[in-house]
Parts: sequence; structure tokens; C-alpha cells
Amino acid sequence: MAETLDIDRLRRDTPASRDLIHFNNAGASLIPNPVSDAVFQHLDLERRIGGYEAEAAAQADIEDFYDAFAALLHCGRDEVAYAESATRAWDMAVYSLPLRAGDRILTHESEYASNWIALTQLSQRLGVVIDAVPSDASGQVDIDAMRRMITPETRVIALTHVPTHNGLVNPAAEVGALAREYGLIFVLDACQSAGQLPLDVRTLGCHVLSGTGRKFLRGPRGTGFLYVERGLLAMLEPAFVDMRAATARPPGGYDLRPDARRFESWESSIAGRVGLRAAVRYLLELGVDAVSARVLMLASSLRNTLASLPGIAVHDRGALKSGIVTFTVDGESGEATAKRLRERRANVSVAAPVGAPLDPQIRVLGSAVRASVHCYNTDEEIARFAALVTDH
Ligand SMILES: Cc1ncc(COP(=O)(O)O)c(C=O)c1O
Repeated sequence: MAETLDIDRLRRDTPASRDLIHFNNAGASLIPNPVSDAVFQHLDLERRIGGYEAEAAAQADIEDFYDAFAALLHCGRDEVAYAESATRAWDMAVYSLPLRAGDRILTHESEYASNWIALTQLSQRLGVVIDAVPSDASGQVDIDAMRRMITPETRVIALTHVPTHNGLVNPAAEVGALAREYGLIFVLDACQSAGQLPLDVRTLGCHVLSGTGRKFLRGPRGTGFLYVERGLLAMLEPAFVDMRAATARPPGGYDLRPDARRFESWESSIAGRVGLRAAVRYLLELGVDAVSARVLMLASSLRNTLASLPGIAVHDRGALKSGIVTFTVDGESGEATAKRLRERRANVSVAAPVGAPLDPQIRVLGSAVRASVHCYNTDEEIARFAALVTDH
């Protein structure tokens, strides 16, 4: 499947790939030309005719944002909202859930730090209880343990699909099936999976799915999206409402929008929206399956290459692995390796407990290098990267 991609074209579309080895796609990917063109053209329009006027002129692309995400996630356009980040998207849904003291929320050790902090605030504020499901021997969420931990008070499962700090892919569809079996609301953080794995909310079984623009989707920074299942929408009173989310009905009422845009803000970056829409259209045109197959193939090749080198340890866990590769170099912190690589024009980021505070493995490691590949990366870059890693 990966052969269907024209790698020369992908690299032409990604000019910085000529100068850099960018293995930081899990941080922020290099945006391809169609995305930067969409953003620049919109800003130029704002400069030339005015912000509100440019928005009116971009209506077709703004509306197509919802169709593009509906095609990507296999959902309805009315189930999609724009957000400024994955975290805000996730927050908007989770802070709106009808939770009461004593209700329980299941999550996993790999949960993203911001989600965990928000859950902790909810537990302190509302008296809900957070239960962290352990990992199985492979490192992914232990489905049997999750089933055993469901109580009559459990209302919600919150899971990170692809954790920020490790190459594993959690078995989200199995968790979705469990959630459906027990009538629980399933909130899936797809921040790191959107753009690198095919996502179908029907097979994932999630009621809520959140993601960001800048990572594997290759959109602009400061953009994100939220999916909320139609059946759940009507039950969620957004934690914040403004005049985009609702229409005032004086003297004492307001009517919420019926669709997922009840979670949006009136003001947002229109250039960001059209840029993220362009990123999703670009991915759909390339083919999600083809992109995903190439990402996973390159990551596996990077993992194998690094694992074969003396003094390098690869730390990825999980039965199924993602485009994220975590490793350490003997005698060097993750930060020191990342800095050394950046000085040689190879971009990576650092995995640390700050991103996944419950995860015992990263706490023991302290830090690791997080190298993350995308479809425009090549085997040749992997070979050069491996040489840089060991050259110290
Ligand atoms: C798994 C996961 N969830 C959520 C986020 C937060 O995304 P954002 O910074 O867009 O809010 C990240 C960011 O690294 C992440 O890795």
C-alpha cells in the first residue's frame, strides 16, 4: 500500500525536508505546501479586504472543514467541532459530562498529563473517583483488568489512543466495545493517532474523540478538533457557552446549537481553520491507509536500526506500535541526545514523566528521546539519523 505514495512529490510538498531530518512529527510535523498556502492566502486576504470580509469569502472552505473531518473520522459533519488545541477539545467535552459525586472514571497509566490533571481537578471539584487501569505484559491497557474494574458507579472511560511518550497503540476498539457493553461514555484522546492511523469512530466505539492539528495531521499550530457522537450531544451542556454555542432568548434563556459546534468559540483563527481543513484534504487525497502503512513501516525500520546499535536501548511497548520511537543512548539523558541531534539538524523531542505522570516506565527512565516519523521521511534519513545518534 505504501508504494502508492509518490515520495518525491511528498518531499517537494515539504520543502524543509531538504534541510532537516525532521523526526519530530509527534511534536509538530512539517506543514506541507498546500497547508502553508491556505494559511498564507487567508492571512493575505485578511490583510487586503479585512478579517470579517475574508471570513465571508472563505465560507466554502470553512464549511468544508466539517465535511473533511466527517470523511476522516467516518462521522456526521454535525458531530465535528473546531477547537484551538486537542486539550481544549477534550476539556470542552469532559467538563460538560453530567458527572456527580461518587461517579467513577476509568483511565489508563498512559493517559496524557493534561487529561490527568483535568480529571484530578474534576475529582477534587465534584467528588468523582478516578481509577487507573494497569497495563498488560505488553504495556497496553489491560482489557481484562479494565472489565474487572468497572463498578455500578463507573460512568466514563478516558483513554489515550497513542500515548505521547511511547510507541504503543492502545487497543481502542476493544475498549470501545467494553464501553458499549456496559453503557459507559468512551472519551478517546486521538491527538497522536489522528493522521498516522485510520480512525473510524464507528469501529472505535468512542462517543468523544479529540485531536490536534499540528502533529500527524500536519496542520498549523493552534488548531484542533472534537468529535461528539450525535446521541451524546443533546446530553452535554457545554462548560462554557457563548453566542456561537447558543442564541440568547431574553429575558432568561438561551437555545444551544443542536450540533457539535456548541463546543466552539465565536472567535477563532480562520487561517488556522482553513489550514487544518487543507491538511485533512491533503491526507485524504494521499490516502489515510497508504500514509499509515508508510509511517508504521518507517517507524519499524527506525526501531530495528536503533535496536541493532551498541549502546542504544529502544523502549517502545505495546502489541501494535505507532510512528513514535523512544530510545536512550547509554550514559546520556534524553535531553542531551535531543540537543546534540538538533545541533546536527535532526529534530526530535524528549519523552518525560511530565507528559505521562502515571506511567511507571518513563518515571524510571527519567527521559528518553522521542523520534517520530511521517510519510515524507525516508530510509536514507533513518540511516543518516542512526549515524548521528551513535556519533558522539
Ligand atoms: C496524547 C496527547 N494528548 C493530548 C495532547 C495535547 O495536545 P495539544 O497541545 O494540542 O492540546 C498531546 C500533545 O502532545 C498528546 O501527545
